Amino acid sequence: MDERSSPTLRRIFRTKSIRQLVESTGGEHALKRVLNPFELVLFGIGAVVGTGIFVITGVAAANFAGPALVVSFVISGIVCLFAALCYAEFAAMVPVAGSAYTYSYVSLGEIWAWIIGWDLFLEYSVAVAAVAIGWSGYVVNLLRELGITLPAALVNPPGVAGGLINLPAVLIIAAITALLILGVKESARVNAVIVVIKVAVILLFLYLGFSHIDPVNWNPFLPFGWGGVVTGAAIIFFAYIGFDAVSTTAEEVRNPQRDLPIGLLGSLLIATMLYVAVALVLTGIVPYYELNVPAPVSFALDQIGIPWGGALVSVGALLGITSVLLVLLFGQTRIIFAMSRDGLLPAAFRKVHPVFRTPVNVTLLVGLVTAAISSLLPLGSVAELVNIGTLAAFIIVSAGVIVLRHTRPETPRPFRVPFVPVIPLLTIFSCGYLIVALPTVTHLRFVIWLLIGLLVYFAYGSRRSGAGDVA
Ligand code: ALA
Repeated sequence: MDERSSPTLRRIFRTKSIRQLVESTGGEHALKRVLNPFELVLFGIGAVVGTGIFVITGVAAANFAGPALVVSFVISGIVCLFAALCYAEFAAMVPVAGSAYTYSYVSLGEIWAWIIGWDLFLEYSVAVAAVAIGWSGYVVNLLRELGITLPAALVNPPGVAGGLINLPAVLIIAAITALLILGVKESARVNAVIVVIKVAVILLFLYLGFSHIDPVNWNPFLPFGWGGVVTGAAIIFFAYIGFDAVSTTAEEVRNPQRDLPIGLLGSLLIATMLYVAVALVLTGIVPYYELNVPAPVSFALDQIGIPWGGALVSVGALLGITSVLLVLLFGQTRIIFAMSRDGLLPAAFRKVHPVFRTPVNVTLLVGLVTAAISSLLPLGSVAELVNIGTLAAFIIVSAGVIVLRHTRPETPRPFRVPFVPVIPLLTIFSCGYLIVALPTVTHLRFVIWLLIGLLVYFAYGSRRSGAGDVA
């Protein structure tokens, strides 16, 4: 910032120094560095593979992409790969929990950090709501397979098939909130078990479905044209969300400079391969227009006469989706915690429970808000909001890579994005392209959300923050 700029401008664009951030992670409150790169890859898969592949594939195939859903997955996967490279550079350079919020504070300044933190509420909190809705769909399906039909009023949001409230979604969020308050941690071992089951279920689906593929189902391949494929990519982008949560473990990794890039890129590559294979088999065994159901992967196995396979997939999906919920809810509380530590949010949000040693207020708040969203809204509109929020975060992180290469060229970068500024610019443009492909109503909701965020910042955060040092 120019010395002659006004004090207000200097204040809102002040940045944090990497040294100060890294120093703040040491001392008696330092977290234990226990995670290795293999566990990080499992953590990433644990956070990523969930509602997107088990639920939203159906909506995206039936309404937008058709059998070309596989192309949508490839497009989204490439966009995420670019973004993951940018995250990897930051994660190795600033190995501090806080992810995109912290990276923006270092590179672009406080107001951008606030905007990204506010925006991350969409990626994490609204994603928790969306994932819980997906979880609910699988519970209802599983119970139906066991001969128990829950009343429509209790499993659908208002306005959908006689719905009143999505009770299973509320209950799973309540249970996870309670677990987080009690201090139950997403330990690497528990996560590893869940990931193994989740991946096994997907491989089972691929194995059972493969021999039932009928290429007739892939014809027409592009029933909604190229536009449908791009919109499909923007919607299915949801399935990749969460790989960036790997970067929030920065303070618990043994060798973050080397291992965070491995965790980010490794989990993303494995998820992409699984998704592409599932998209091919799913649209190959059932006509795409029949897939608009809450549990399309198990539904497809039912349709080809393997109900036991469908039931197994439902159980695995439920378990797998639960780990996504736990990680995302946890991530959200951490981001709010970090923003509160910096003074951008009230001190009450960093209050730690005296017995459980967990941030009780913020966990309860996030639980309540996400439960309310999941009980009242349908999956489609919620998922779109998550996508636009995450795409915006990717854009800001990529811009941050370019800015920091200019402003702090001397800072050591254990991992470097190749071909800067080309790759960050490609990320910015491709994310922008996917944002444009989302429905206009989603754009409007996003702009309104950001405007509310700016009001909150100028009314509160900009006056209270005290942690930044003018760089
Ligand atoms: N990628 C996560 C999921 O699909 C959010 O559930």
